[in-house]
Amino acid sequence: MLGAEDFIEETVEDLRSRIQGKAIIACSGGVDSMVAATLASKAIGDRLLAVYVDNGLMRKGETEEVEGMLRDMGINYRIASAGQEFFDALKGVSDPERKRKIIGEKFIRVFEREAREFGAEYLVQGTIAPDWIESGDGVRDTIKSHHNVGGLPKDMGMTLVEPLRDLYKDEVRDVARLLGVKASERQPFPGPALAVRCLGEVTPEGIAIVREACFIVEDEIRKAAEAGKMEMPWQYFAVLLPSRSVGVQGDRRAYGRTIAVRAVASVDGMTATYARIPLDVLDAISVRITNTMKDSVNRVVYDITNKPPATIEWE
Ligand code: XMP
Repeated sequence: MLGAEDFIEETVEDLRSRIQGKAIIACSGGVDSMVAATLASKAIGDRLLAVYVDNGLMRKGETEEVEGMLRDMGINYRIASAGQEFFDALKGVSDPERKRKIIGEKFIRVFEREAREFGAEYLVQGTIAPDWIESGDGVRDTIKSHHNVGGLPKDMGMTLVEPLRDLYKDEVRDVARLLGVKASERQPFPGPALAVRCLGEVTPEGIAIVREACFIVEDEIRKAAEAGKMEMPWQYFAVLLPSRSVGVQGDRRAYGRTIAVRAVASVDGMTATYARIPLDVLDAISVRITNTMKDSVNRVVYDITNKPPATIEWE
C-alpha cells in the first residue's frame, strides 16, 4: 500500500471523480466503516449520508458515542431508531442462527428504506481485504452466519464503492489515526450485537441486563489494565444465560439469572485462549454485577474455555 497520507489523498480524489450523485454508507462505529465514511465525506460532502441503525441491541452509550464520532468528523449522518422493530421481529425466537438471520434481514430493510428516502445511487462500504479473501473459503459460515454492515446485498440497485478493499486491518488503523478517527482502538463487536449475548429469546429486559453487565466487565477490566494489574484482553464481555439458579437475597430464597464473563486473548478471532484475569479483578466484576442488579442476577461465572473447542461468543 501507499503511505497512509498518499492513500488518503488519492482515495479522496478517486471517490470524488467516481461518485457522481448521492451516496449512502451504513456506519456501525467500527473502524472500517468510520474510515470509509470519513474519506467519502471528504470527497463529496453532504452528498454522502452515513446511516447508523440503532437496533436497540447496542452497548451502553454506544449510539451516543457513534453519533459523537460522526458529528466530530463533520459527516452528514442520520440515526435510524429501529429498536422496537428489531424486538418485534425477534419475539419468541431462541435459535441462534434464526436470530442472526432475522437481525441481518431487518438491518437491510431499515437501511434500504433510508437509501430510498435519501435518493442514494451509490453504496459505500468499508470492506477490507480479509473480508473478501475469507468469504471465499466458506468455513466460518458453516459455524456461524456472520452478519455485519459489509454484508449488504449487491442487488440494492446502487453502484458499490469500496475504498478500503485492498487494505488490511493495521493499514486501516494507520489511516484512521491520520484522519483522527477515534474508532480505531475499539474491541471487536459482533454485527448481531447484544442479541448473541442474550442466550435464548431476546427481550428488552434481557438486553438491559446484559448491556449493564457488559458495561461493568469493560469498565472493571479497563481499570485493572490501567492500574497495571493485567494485560488488556483482545475481547471481553458478559453473556446472559437463559437458565435460572437458586440464591439468597436477605433471608429469602431467590431464583435469579446467571451472567457468564468472557475474556480472551487472540490475534484474529480465529483461535483464542481464555484470559488469565487476576482473581481480585474477577471478584470486583462479580460483586459489582450482583450489587447493581440485585433483583435479577444472583450468580456470575467465568468462562475458562479456549477456541476451539468453544467459540468466542456463546451463540
Ligand atoms: P466467534 O464467536 O465465531 O467469533 O468465535 C469470532 C469473532 O467474530 C466476532 N463475531 C462477529 N463479527 N459479525 C461480525 O462482524 C458477526 O455476526 C459476528 N459473530 C461473531 C466475535 O465477536 C469475535 O470477535
